[in-house]
Amino acid sequence: MSNYDIKDINQAEGGRRRMDWAEREMPVLRSIRERFKKEKPLKGLRVSACLHVTTETANLMVTLQEGGADIVLTASNPLSTQDDVAAALVNQFEIPTFAIKGEDNVTYYKHIRAALEHQPHMTMDDGADLVSSLFFIEMGRFEKLEPSLAGWAKGLKDEERKQLLANVIGGTEETTTGVIRLKAMEKDGVLKFPVIAVNDALTKHLFDNRYGTGQSTIDGIIRATNVLLAGKNFVVAGYGWCGRGLASRARGMGAQVIVTEIDPMKALEAVMDGYQVMPMLDAAKIGDIFCTVTGDINVLDGKHFEAMKDGAIVANSGHFNVEINIPALAKMSKGEPKHVREFVHQYETKDGRKINILGEGRLINLASAEGHPASVMDMSFANQALSAEYMAKNADKLEKKVYSVPTDIDNEIARLKLESMGVKIDILTDEQLKYLSSWEEGT
Ligand SMILES: NC(=O)c1ccc[n+]([C@@H]2O[C@H](COP(=O)([O-])OP(=O)(O)OC[C@H]3O[C@@H](n4cnc5c(N)ncnc54)[C@H](O)[C@@H]3O)[C@@H](O)[C@H]2O)c1
Repeated sequence: MSNYDIKDINQAEGGRRRMDWAEREMPVLRSIRERFKKEKPLKGLRVSACLHVTTETANLMVTLQEGGADIVLTASNPLSTQDDVAAALVNQFEIPTFAIKGEDNVTYYKHIRAALEHQPHMTMDDGADLVSSLFFIEMGRFEKLEPSLAGWAKGLKDEERKQLLANVIGGTEETTTGVIRLKAMEKDGVLKFPVIAVNDALTKHLFDNRYGTGQSTIDGIIRATNVLLAGKNFVVAGYGWCGRGLASRARGMGAQVIVTEIDPMKALEAVMDGYQVMPMLDAAKIGDIFCTVTGDINVLDGKHFEAMKDGAIVANSGHFNVEINIPALAKMSKGEPKHVREFVHQYETKDGRKINILGEGRLINLASAEGHPASVMDMSFANQALSAEYMAKNADKLEKKVYSVPTDIDNEIARLKLESMGVKIDILTDEQLKYLSSWEEGT
């Protein structure tokens, strides 16, 4: 395979301009890059990254490169790639990049193969497709792989397959869904190296999942439809970190927000935050716009489509495209869906209602918009860069487990972010420190 596969190298200049624009909002990552340039903490390490290929990711890649890493980057979603950014990475930074917006499943896994052929010492995943492919290959479970990737893997000698895994000292994982998959691997005893759950850092999910997904999902729905949110019934499925952000942003735009949940605690929180909470079957009857952010499967299913109003708009911002059961909708529709606008497929049900699916049910904030704003990715990717450095230094002391980002890294990122925003905070006095650490003072 050649050392890149992108849409059009001629888009590099535009991609570079957008990378530079994002970089303005990434002061924490920039300060890490300056230090990495001098200290080279990743020197000699081959890193395979499977991330959304966006301007912010590009800035992370350059940071790792400055730190001495030898990187290959592939897409972590077939629709999230920014082709101009992929071109800039190849043309201006010589970072082998394998990502084309709209690539099919075969190409997606051909690109994962490129990441594996790089023989990584470290993996950097968003959704765990790279590490799960690696483990299926090592276990010889070829039936779980996309057929062309399976064909390549079967062609490897036994020792080559083992070596592929033996090279890896550890990995990092960016998102909730990936962390859930990795914890399931750990539980089943198939996790073969330590992984740091970047998603679980407070400076990641409190800001990226909440404010990043909140804003960019609204942005994606609006760019895809140009619909007015004010006065609409906006149904948010899932009141986790992403759902909280999405619900509050939709309310801010004047929508009447309805939340659906399966967890009583989250549902109670949504009620107390002032939203209507009800089962999806009831919400389906009154919703104008639906967005799933659960990490779950078939949250919007055939029975919900049966109940929906004519003209309903349906999107997903959870990691995989399984939250909306599109095959069930296709089954109850007449003919093929109409591609009525870029990123909008309109299905006509047999009883004549039109239901609009955005971005083929894939992460709408990355499909039709540009993903999270750089300012939150600054913290997420600072966690990635510092976790990679931590892994490089400590892998030999870690077990085959999913680890949290060390608290001092998390706190330092919060401190640096505040500093970059010019925000100062108080410091505990000696008296307060003593008081807060004693049990003897009471009523
Ligand atoms: N779009 C993006 O850019 C982006 C960014 C971060 C995370 N994500 C993805 O979004 C998803 C959610 O992430 P999160 O951090 O909010 O997770 P979370 O665990 O904080 O929240 C998920 C919520 O969904 C609820 N839920 C599960 N099944 C449900 C169902 N059938 N109906 C209603 N609610 C249900 C859970 O109870 C939970 O409260 C994950 O797939 C994650 O990987 C996407």
